[in-house]
Amino acid sequence: MSANRYPITLSLTAAISAVLLGAGAACAASEGAAAAPTPTPDGALASGGAARAASGTAGAPGIGDPDFPTDGNGGYDVGHYGLTLSYDPATKRLAGSAAITATATQELSSFDLDLHGLTVGKVTVDGAAAAFARRGDELTLTPSRAIGKGASFEVVVDYSGVPDPVHGDRDLGTYGFIATKDGSFVTCEPNGAKTWFPSNDHPADKATYDFRLTVPQGVTAIANGELDGAPVTNGGRTTFVWHERHPMASYLATMTTGKFEVRTGKTAAGVPVYAAVDPAFHSSLNDLYTRSAEITDYWSTVFGPYPFSSTGGVIDDFAAGYALENQTKPIYGGFPPESGIVAHELAHQWFGDSVSITRWRDLWLNEGFATYAEWLWAEHKGGDTADAEFRRYYANAADPMWAYPPGTARPGDLFNASVYNRGAMTLHALRKSIGDATFFALLKKWTADHQYGNATTPEFVALAEQMSGKKLGGLFDAWLSQPRRPADVP
Ligand code: TRP
Ligand code: ZN
Repeated sequence: MSANRYPITLSLTAAISAVLLGAGAACAASEGAAAAPTPTPDGALASGGAARAASGTAGAPGIGDPDFPTDGNGGYDVGHYGLTLSYDPATKRLAGSAAITATATQELSSFDLDLHGLTVGKVTVDGAAAAFARRGDELTLTPSRAIGKGASFEVVVDYSGVPDPVHGDRDLGTYGFIATKDGSFVTCEPNGAKTWFPSNDHPADKATYDFRLTVPQGVTAIANGELDGAPVTNGGRTTFVWHERHPMASYLATMTTGKFEVRTGKTAAGVPVYAAVDPAFHSSLNDLYTRSAEITDYWSTVFGPYPFSSTGGVIDDFAAGYALENQTKPIYGGFPPESGIVAHELAHQWFGDSVSITRWRDLWLNEGFATYAEWLWAEHKGGDTADAEFRRYYANAADPMWAYPPGTARPGDLFNASVYNRGAMTLHALRKSIGDATFFALLKKWTADHQYGNATTPEFVALAEQMSGKKLGGLFDAWLSQPRRPADVP
């Protein structure tokens, strides 16, 4: 499942005008420079009289994100990942297979998956052994014959090893599959899924997931979506089967393992809840459960129907000090979250998880919205109003965020506070300009129009203009694209 991709770098203003002019900037997708055609390594055909010409070209090693050129891959669209994995916290070894169902978007002589570290044992494509090669974090597969454009195919990769998380530079920190003392803490934004399964590791290619996770008896394995029956224990090992039936970006996939205390139930509105805490956070289980349930129901009234089949959260005893909006189950690393953080991570279920970005530079569509949700939540609970929060930030002319235009998140500084706070301020400025009724209708239409899909900033601007009947290019340009504090306060 893939979204339109941006083939070229557009400035935000240019991208906005392209959409306003109906130029369809997003439609002229190219997967980037394709490598030279590779002969199909098929001896039988080559020796025949009517020798089959080398067919297909190599899928591109990147999906086309201008800031993360090797993230994701071109030439195919993943529909589903079936991950059958065992993990042993004592040895930190992960082993198993990834069965990936995909559709070719071009005739493919070879294609890449993203994989960081780990040892690949065997690869098959549609049941036949395929050749593979590794270079950096690219795993290149060459099936025994080319895959036709539009064909669906299944890749199975057997692999094992001790996962090596990504040690990102600057604000990215360590992410991916991280071993903890009793299991694993798996938080993959922006591109750490490749540290534990071969993937098209970019949010532009969302897919459904099944997880069949085996751990030593006594360890709990938590993934996205819902458990399929009770875990089964056999010979000292327990297998947990989880299904995420709604499309999910790879960075939101998780297999959090370790000792956990679990509480399940339903929200007042009837959404199933799964809350889990490391025993070190025993006293926070009920708070986590209650807050997650209440906030899921509240956001459903503000942002539109809850998009997934369950909600919840996990607190692990791992001092990451951050939280991630893993689909259906945000994770909180090493701290019992205040309700504002839960409000943030659960708002991401709509903004980021259901409606996903197409390229990382649009990250304010996730973080600006989730931060604005924190302000709305505080106001809902009788704290400071969103307007007061906006004015407090605006008053500080020396805030470094004024130099960082949040509409173009930078690859080396993706999670800059500007993307969060100035992103949220952008929404407040918009709300003041178009009025509460239109603003909240816009949020609901945005989540409905792009549910389970991908979207871009120009699409948001276009929808805001359409629903308000106002020209908003100047407002968005000042708030998202200029390296200075906007002069006009709404
Ligand atoms: N998206 C997270 C949030 O705002 C923050 C985050 C960025 C993160 N990179 C991460 C969390 C890597 C875990 C791992 O809630
Ligand atoms: Zn966030």
